[in-house]
Amino acid sequence: MSSSNPLRDPADRRLPRIAGPSGLVIFGVTGDLSRKKLMPAVYDLANRGLLPPGFSLVGFARREWANEDFAQEVHDAVKEHARTPFREEVWQQLIQGMRFVQGTFDDDDAFERLRDTIGELDKAQGTGGNFAFYLSVPPSAFPVVIQQLKKHGLADQTSGSWRRAVIEKPFGHDLKSAEELNATVEEVFAPDQVFRIDHYLGKETVQNILALRFANQMFEPIWNRSYVDHVQITMAEDIGIGGRAGYYDGIGAARDVIQNHLLQLMALTAMEEPSSFDADALAAEKTKVLGAVKLPRDLGADTVRGQYAEGWQGGEKAVGYLQEEGIDPKSKTDTYAAIKVEVDNRRWAGVPFYLRTGKRLGRRVTEIAVVFQRAPHSPFDHTATEELGQNAIVIRVQPDEGITVRFGSKVPGTSMEIRDVSMDFAYGESFTESSPEAYERLILDVLLGDSNLFPRTEEVELSWKILDPIEEYWDKHGKPAQYPSGTWGPVEADEMLERDGRSWRRP
Ligand code: BG6
Repeated sequence: MSSSNPLRDPADRRLPRIAGPSGLVIFGVTGDLSRKKLMPAVYDLANRGLLPPGFSLVGFARREWANEDFAQEVHDAVKEHARTPFREEVWQQLIQGMRFVQGTFDDDDAFERLRDTIGELDKAQGTGGNFAFYLSVPPSAFPVVIQQLKKHGLADQTSGSWRRAVIEKPFGHDLKSAEELNATVEEVFAPDQVFRIDHYLGKETVQNILALRFANQMFEPIWNRSYVDHVQITMAEDIGIGGRAGYYDGIGAARDVIQNHLLQLMALTAMEEPSSFDADALAAEKTKVLGAVKLPRDLGADTVRGQYAEGWQGGEKAVGYLQEEGIDPKSKTDTYAAIKVEVDNRRWAGVPFYLRTGKRLGRRVTEIAVVFQRAPHSPFDHTATEELGQNAIVIRVQPDEGITVRFGSKVPGTSMEIRDVSMDFAYGESFTESSPEAYERLILDVLLGDSNLFPRTEEVELSWKILDPIEEYWDKHGKPAQYPSGTWGPVEADEMLERDGRSWRRP
């Protein structure tokens, strides 16, 4: 259907969704996330024609910048990090709505200036009072920013306009702090005004989990304890902590990514079919999975944490975590974490879900591997199947996005020798469109008020409930095992699976 077709259905999800009159205010605009992800995403959306003509971008920070300096920063960030080519005409239009407000978070005058700026943009750019406030700030700054928005009337939705709060992780560092944080936010913003970012949910390959499972008939019948042996979810990074010592130390790998990204991937992999794809129905099913998670009885045996030591990465010598700048040399922070959990319901009872993540591992790769039981009976000699592994469906989240199905096949020319082979779907080969960055999708959804891809309060709190006992156990017992940079983590993690008669995949 073309867009001029009178029969065009506005709910048709194939059609481009374009944001209505609106603007985005970024707190923490001088930070890394803003420069590498948020500003480029705004430009990419504009370049794809998905932002309204008068779209406005307001930066709020301490720096002594004029509007022009801010625009220059955005320009440089876009040139360096945007996904789509730079087009002068798009830039010229975008720059019309760029403003900078200088101030600290406790500065009442600055928030008054922010209010005036928004008022001015409503007139000059036709933003209609619709603004999203993106808090790309440390959690310690959440309460003051939220309170300032309230105090200066910036959270009020008047005469048909909307105001939304976008909150970056971490949402606390345990259940208690998350509850406090949620209470602070929800004292000012109604639940449907709050968008919590888990950028993994904005990735195309992650959204495709739902398409794979629920748009097809061939996978779902075997997606359960009768056929699945176990599930492995891996998020491996080859980078270290870079310049993020201040954020990372004391937080660690499990809080940084298992609490959010990995548990969300697990929820999407394990959940029942939602009655529809609206936000409530999806959240209800994910919540059920997170609520059904059972931790292992022996946390000492079935969880492992590690810390990278010096080693070699990509042909270069890499320093250990304790030698990184800004890290306490006695730090017990985990840069690797592996945990085993079960989802205690009829579909999954007895099927372990192994979740692991780490920095400075052998390769950057995120995947979900659903590993199947062996065939219950084999008419072949044992020599014929010696090299046959377990069947698996592997969702390759990144890089090399796609899906692999692994199964056994007869080696040609032998009387009967069966070996593992792969059937691959690769995005690059099947689609000409390239995938948008997660932040493009998520910022657009915020402007459209579409909350499908944003975790709810309950999901966040349940995820902390899962992690808290593990962190407490780690706190009381020993310290992380060291692993050389560039390897696949501590040997203890291999032993953890060996005890179950299994092994980690080497993606
Ligand atoms: C972030 C974590 O949420 O995800 C980082 O805080 C991590 O530590 C990053 O590096 C990885 O994101 P991606 O999209 O590159 O896999």
